[in-house]
Amino acid sequence: MCGIVGYIGSEQAAPILLDGLSKLEYRGYDSAGIAVFNGSEIDMVKSTGKLKVLEELTKGGATLPGFSGIGHTRWATHGSPTDTNAHPHYNKDCSIAVVHNGIIENYLKLRRKLEKKGYQFVSETDTEVLAHLLDYYYNGNPLDTITKVLYRVEGSYALGILFKEHPEEIYAVRKDSPLIVGQGKEGNFIASDVPAVLKYTRNVYFIENQEIVRLTKDSLNFYNIDEEEIQKESTEIEWDISAAEKAGYEYFMLKEIYEQPQAVTDTLRPRLKENEILIEELGMTEEEIREISKIYIVACGSAYHTGVTAKYVFEGLARIPVEVDLASEFRYRNPIFQPGTLVIVVSQSGETADSLAALREAKNCGVRTLGIVNVVGSSIAREADNVMYTWAGPEIAVATTKAYSTQLVAEYLLAIHFAKVRNQIDEQQFQSLLNDLKKLPDQIELLLGSKEKLQHFANRYLATEHVFFIGRGIDYAISLEGSLKLKEISYIHSEAYAAGELKHGTISLIEQDTLVVALVTQKSLYKKTLSNMQEVRTRGAFVMAVTNAGNKEVEKSADYVVYLPETNPYFTNSLAVIPLQLFGYYVSLGRGLDVDKPRNLAKSVTVE
Ligand code: F6R
Repeated sequence: MCGIVGYIGSEQAAPILLDGLSKLEYRGYDSAGIAVFNGSEIDMVKSTGKLKVLEELTKGGATLPGFSGIGHTRWATHGSPTDTNAHPHYNKDCSIAVVHNGIIENYLKLRRKLEKKGYQFVSETDTEVLAHLLDYYYNGNPLDTITKVLYRVEGSYALGILFKEHPEEIYAVRKDSPLIVGQGKEGNFIASDVPAVLKYTRNVYFIENQEIVRLTKDSLNFYNIDEEEIQKESTEIEWDISAAEKAGYEYFMLKEIYEQPQAVTDTLRPRLKENEILIEELGMTEEEIREISKIYIVACGSAYHTGVTAKYVFEGLARIPVEVDLASEFRYRNPIFQPGTLVIVVSQSGETADSLAALREAKNCGVRTLGIVNVVGSSIAREADNVMYTWAGPEIAVATTKAYSTQLVAEYLLAIHFAKVRNQIDEQQFQSLLNDLKKLPDQIELLLGSKEKLQHFANRYLATEHVFFIGRGIDYAISLEGSLKLKEISYIHSEAYAAGELKHGTISLIEQDTLVVALVTQKSLYKKTLSNMQEVRTRGAFVMAVTNAGNKEVEKSADYVVYLPETNPYFTNSLAVIPLQLFGYYVSLGRGLDVDKPRNLAKSVTVE
């Protein structure tokens, strides 16, 4: 996620901005920039790459003298990582500079309006819209100008703003994107996260949605969106820097598990418009969607597991045949393509060597391709015919959690959209699916609330040697992911089995107290899975079941039960995966392992 800093005080601003940005590097970024008021103009330097490049370009900040400024590390969303797309962004006469975290959802509409009024855009970013809107509404009063802009923008933002005509002030505001203000002895600060200011002050104000802050070198004023001044209490920060980088979480993986409600919201919200699904970036006409004869979903690891789930959703709702392929197999197996084939390549990093090769293979055969990718501007995103981004933000832990969850919802959106266009579902079914989709972030949040129970349960299994995950249909797809999450970070051998398949050989491995995790979320398959649970239980297995709220029947066949909130059966994976991620996490933690960096694994697998 992007990082914001700002400073106004009696020290040189640029070195403080660079130092603050360096404390936000853990958030992940691909370019950086700073803007400083030099006494008469706002100077700006920005560049792709690491902060080191910016430090070299500015000679540690020395080439940008001045006592107030804003800085930014960008993790590309709208527009690839380039110098021009890096923040800050100017208005047309460089009298306003702005840095932004978040996503302006109606930026295209605003951009078109501004272009009609003669504004020229130099970048592809949603942020530049803000710079020009501030210019458009500027009336000499920054506070009033900012509130006017806020009434026009939809989405999430944390902003730092410099106005050349107000050199003694900087402004900041937020909605759904974090922002703090630090009060120091030699000046005041803004930042998207506490570590950026900890070296200078521990006295911090947490800014709430749509609160606006005016900072001078020795004063802070807070306002609501009606421009009324409000009083805020400061907080004394007691954590150290390394804890703060992980926002107080012990590992990035847990932080990312907890970011899932937001990541899922960010992926869904821009595509859900007034009870419709609008996937502008799909680039397919309704006619083309109706002509799809077959879908291949191609990916590796967890991304492949989302494909296994999506197969059920595409086939069940849109009635389009789907094949799910491991990219490393697909690229060598000479698949048979027919007219109307769509190849969907799913990847967090967008750089996985096998997935990229599979994409190229499909393109060489003249097949239409779509990337579902998290990292903007990555190879798969650039090379696919079209790209649908997941808005999970940077994922730092090697084991994926939030990227997985956003891939799932991106695939649900596509499947529902295809089903609607192909008249496979009626309006009532469509609206009911959308309603259930919209509830997912809150339901995930609810499940995260019971982490202690999972931790307690996980602690009983720290010394176990084998675990089996079983389920049928979509539950089998969840089992695959649950098993991978556990084994990759805990080094405990685990396997996922289609529940009905266990007795064709593997059941001979079940001994007294072997842990079997049974996924039981598909009502039509309850009874079948319950018998499979009985089969292993009578052979001594300890059965943990994950099922829907109200399915008390399961308690007769399980020793420990986790209940999920009610959702559409196609979406249960998004909920069931949460206790499984927590289980894997706590087993790894309890075994004293490096949860974020398991042995032998890399975050991005760029070799075959
Ligand atoms: C498991 C995990 C991996 C990735 C796989 C694909 O937790 O993270 O299995 O899912 O390596 O990576 P991407 O999505 O970057 O193509």
